[in-house]
This record gives sequence, structure tokens and C-alpha cells, in this order.
Amino acid sequence: MQPAVVAHRGASAHLAEHTLAAYALAIDQGADALECDIRLTRDGHLVCVHDSRVDRTSNGTGRVSELTLRELSELDYGGELGVLTLAALLGLVADHGRDTRLFIETKHPVRYGRLVETKLVAQLARHGLATPAAKAESPVVLMSFSAMAVRRMRAYAPALPTVLLFTQLWPILRDGSLPSWADHPGPGVHLLRRDPGYVARAAERGNSTYCWTVDDPADIRLCARIGVRWLATNAPAATRAVLGAG
Ligand code: G3P
Ligand code: CA
Repeated sequence: MQPAVVAHRGASAHLAEHTLAAYALAIDQGADALECDIRLTRDGHLVCVHDSRVDRTSNGTGRVSELTLRELSELDYGGELGVLTLAALLGLVADHGRDTRLFIETKHPVRYGRLVETKLVAQLARHGLATPAAKAESPVVLMSFSAMAVRRMRAYAPALPTVLLFTQLWPILRDGSLPSWADHPGPGVHLLRRDPGYVARAAERGNSTYCWTVDDPADIRLCARIGVRWLATNAPAATRAVLGAG
């Protein structure tokens, strides 16, 4: 089976990351799924921003955690006015009529700690997304580099699938096993270049792999060859073309 294509921050090779336009383009490009990072504003709203500050991605300055939704909404994000809220992104996914999964990453450490996961699960519950009939059919997947955050995701929303992201293949993970609260491993592609057998070891233990962030054709082909299940990329159409060309 070929890897599913996950649009990383939308089709962010083409349009400003974490904008509605970048996600709409990703859907148009045939992405199977979307990826976003979320943070809490000062007044408790979940917004899709990667960095702790808005300086890199907007015409403003300051920490997301110290700005209100209104203040964030007055900024320009690479040509799109207003910060993308998680609610708006969920709306886009619901409205476009094709099954497109959303991989939602919480960033840590952050000022509001566990409140991010608390608010996230509450919001998903309001959208009817917190209790899918089966994890394999869940429209949303939760993930984090923070083990504590993934544990909380499992505790607060046991029906939702989780990905434990990692930048190092810690000895405890090396044989492909995972802690009970994580469903899928999420290695960076640099780890799979060094240890391509990891994906098979994880599969032997029933764990299918999510890999990030894969734009280079050689990496895409590597991921396909070793059996990566989900491949996060900034360029969904180009990635699909490489996969299609075998
Ligand atoms: O999809 C996981 C990947 O997004 C993790 O890295 O820094 O791009 O959030 P980062
Ligand atoms: Ca991310």
C-alpha cells in the first residue's frame, strides 16, 4: 500500500503555511489528510500557528499566548488576513465533502500546559469528533512531541488515535514498540534514512508509521519502499506524482 499524503501546514510549499488557502489548495491537490499545529491564545481560543511567536508568519510581533484572538485576527499571514482558528479548519474539512483526515499537533512546552489538550478535546466533542466508532475511521488524529501531552490526549479522549512524534530514536522505541497511550510512531524522515528497518519493526508490533516532513523525491521513494503509512509533505501534488511514478 502506498503512503497516504498528509499536507503539512497545508500545501505550504506553495502558499503561506496554516492559512485557509493553503489547506484548500492541499485538498484540491488531492491530499489524503491535513496537518496543523495548534496553540492557545491569551483568551483561550485554539489557533493554527507553528511558532510560539507570530513574527515569522505574520506582519505582527509577539507571543500567541499573550495575544487575544482579536489581536491575532488583525494581522496578515502571508496575504491572508486573520489567524486561522481550529474551528475554521474543522469547518473547511467538514464542508468540502471528501474524507480528509486532520492530524492535529499540540506544541509544548507552553504557558498553558494541559489546558491545550483540555480545550482541544472539548472543541472536538462540540464538533462530534471526539468519539469515533473506530480509531481507523476517526476524522482526526492527535499528536505531539511531548509524551505528557500524548498521555493526556489518551486520557481525555480514549477513542481518538494518537501519534507520538520524535526526533531521536530513543532506546525504548528502537524495537518498534510504543507506550500503551500511543497508537502510532512519528519519526522524522532523518531517522528513517539512518534506520530504514524501523518501519518494519514497528509494523511487526502492529504500529503503522507517520513520517515527517518528506519533500525530497529520494525520501518519498524511501518512505514508500519501507512501508510508511502516512507521509507529511509540504507539496502534496508533487509528492503524489513521485509516488505514482513508483
Ligand atoms: O507532522 C509533524 C511535524 O509537523 C513536526 O514538526 O516542527 O513541522 O511541527 P514541525
Ligand atoms: Ca507540526
